[in-house]
Amino acid sequence: MADGFTSREERAAFIAGLPKAELHLHIEGSLEPELMFELARRNGVAIPFANVGEVRAAYAFSNLQDFLDIYYQGMGVLQTEQDFYDLTAAYCTRANADTVRHVEIFFDPQGHTARGVAFETVITGITRALDDAKARYGMTSKLILCFLRHLSEAEAEATLDEALPFLDRIAGVGLDSSELGHPPAGFERVFARARDLGLKLVAHAGEEGPPEYVREALDLLKVDRIDHGNRSLEDPALVARLAASGMTLTVCPLSNLKLCVVDDMADHPLKIMLDAGLKATVNSDDPSYFGGYVNANYQAVADALDLSRDDLVTLARNSFTGSFLSDAEKARHLAAIAARA
Ligand code: ADE
Ligand code: ZN
Repeated sequence: MADGFTSREERAAFIAGLPKAELHLHIEGSLEPELMFELARRNGVAIPFANVGEVRAAYAFSNLQDFLDIYYQGMGVLQTEQDFYDLTAAYCTRANADTVRHVEIFFDPQGHTARGVAFETVITGITRALDDAKARYGMTSKLILCFLRHLSEAEAEATLDEALPFLDRIAGVGLDSSELGHPPAGFERVFARARDLGLKLVAHAGEEGPPEYVREALDLLKVDRIDHGNRSLEDPALVARLAASGMTLTVCPLSNLKLCVVDDMADHPLKIMLDAGLKATVNSDDPSYFGGYVNANYQAVADALDLSRDDLVTLARNSFTGSFLSDAEKARHLAAIAARA
C-alpha cells in the first residue's frame, strides 16, 4: 500500500473528502441516459434506443471519433433553456457529492446552434443552474466556450460573435472535438481575438494528436492550460518546457481508458507526469459516457498506480492552482486541503 494509507478503503475515504476543482468537464458529456430519455419524451425527440440499458451498451468506443459520433447524437435531446438547466443542475449535484468546490465547465454551442437552438437558450440555462449551485452548495464555477475543431475557423469566429453579448458569463474559450487532422494552427486568429477580449485560453491537445499539436497550442494559440496533453510525454524537450512553465494539464483517466488512449489503467501516465514535475490534474471529461465522475477518476487511477497521500494532495492542489480563480480564492481552497492532509 502506498505511503500514507493502510488500506484501499482508507484511500477512497480520503479521496472522497478531499476538496477539489474540476477543470475538464463537458457539460453535454454529463447527460445521463435517464435524463436523455426524459428529455426525449418531453421534447418529442426520437432516439435510437429502447431503454437505458441499450444506451449504456452503446457506450463502447475504440477511439475519440467513435465517442464523438454518439455524443453529438445524444445532445440532440437538449432543446429548451430548462433542458440545459436540468443538465447542469444534475451535474452540480453530482459534483457536490464528490466534494468539488469549484468547476470550470466546457460547453459546445456549435453542437446546439447547428440544430436551431439559440446560443442564448444554451447559456441562460447553464448559467441559471450554476448560479443555483453557488447558492445551494457554495460551489463556484467558470464557463469555457469550446470551438469544434472539425468545423472551420470562420464558424468559430461566428460563434465568438454570438458570444459577445454574454461575455460577462464566459471566462474562456477552448478547442475540442476530433483532434487528428485538425491541428491548433487552424484556429490561431480566433484565439488571438478571444485573448484580446480578455478571455482565458485552453485547448485539447495530445489526447490522440502528436506532441506537435501541444507545441502549436502553446506557441500559436498561447493557451493558459492544456486539456489532456498525454502525448507530450513522447517529447522530452516538451515535457521539460511544460514542467518549467508550470503549465497545467487537465488529465482524464477514465476517458483515456474508454477512448483507448491507454490500454490498461495500470499503464496510465499520470504518475510519470507527476514525477516529471508536470502540473497534472484529474478530471472526468464526459462522466456519463466514461463511467464515472471525478472521485471515480481519482479512485481508478489511485488504485491502478498505487498513488500516495502526497500524490493525491498534489493533484487536488494542482486543480485549484491551475484554475482561473483569483489568488485569494486559490489560497482559501489550498488551506482547506491542508486542513485535511
Ligand atoms: N468533446 C467532448 N469530449 C471530448 C474529448 N475527450 N476530446 C475531444 N473533444 C471532446
Ligand atoms: Zn474533453
